[in-house]
Amino acid sequence: MLKIENLTKIYKLEKKSLVIFENISYNFPFGKTISIVGDSGVGKSTLLHILGTIDEPTEGSVFYDDVNILDLSEKKLAKFRSEHVGFVFQFHHLLPDFNALENVMIPNMVIEKDRTLTEKKAIELLDLVGLKDRIKHKPSELSGGEQQRVAIARALINNPKVIFADEPTGNLDEKTSEKIHELLFKIQKKYNSTLIVVTHNEKLAKNFDIRLKLTKGRLINLEENND
Ligand SMILES: Nc1ncnc2c1ncn2[C@@H]1O[C@H](COP(=O)(O)OP(=O)(O)OP(=O)(O)O)[C@@H](O)[C@H]1O
Ligand SMILES: [Mg+2]
Repeated sequence: MLKIENLTKIYKLEKKSLVIFENISYNFPFGKTISIVGDSGVGKSTLLHILGTIDEPTEGSVFYDDVNILDLSEKKLAKFRSEHVGFVFQFHHLLPDFNALENVMIPNMVIEKDRTLTEKKAIELLDLVGLKDRIKHKPSELSGGEQQRVAIARALINNPKVIFADEPTGNLDEKTSEKIHELLFKIQKKYNSTLIVVTHNEKLAKNFDIRLKLTKGRLINLEENND
């Protein structure tokens, strides 16, 4: 279980403090699909980044089972992240000078895994996202949806326990969005991973096991609150 306890995020600005959320606690069960909706600026990306170990809360704890990731040294945290967490950003952050295959392989190159095995896995993943005949294309030679699919494949290279996706379909048309969501669900099932997605798309959000809403600094369960 991915557990947050009394999570608080406050940005200290020059003259005042900006409280994004305060004392949020929640248990995210592993193996489920979870959506998070909420208005622009409420702190969804901030929360996702903290859950995904790429940002730190001002106060509170983040547990992956019994590991409090905030207790880990920077080096241990980087290793933990590369082994347990996959991130699909709203803007894909693909490296423009590398082709699709290389982009998917990069997270594994950082942790010095066997190159041949990594390449095999990367090809498998690109096949899974329907891009087997595009592996030598650079991002500029791919459509927006294809770039996002490369980003999904890249997020999966290390078999992460948890896949985070921050509005993965924000810039895509409805049909492509649906396809990308279907793909994320297929992958979640196949690897029995946990899928946590921030989305503005209420229609797609309905398909998730657990539906959450971040509002006024609180995380509420939409099923229970019927909001
Ligand atoms: N480094 C920072 N310093 C100060 N304020 C910040 C910083 N980063 C984000 N914020 C503020 O924190 C709030 C939450 O930002 P966040 O990106 O988490 O929102 P969001 O819910 O993901 O919004 P959107 O739906 O538009 O992506 C915003 O009001 C933003 O201006
Ligand atoms: Mg955001």
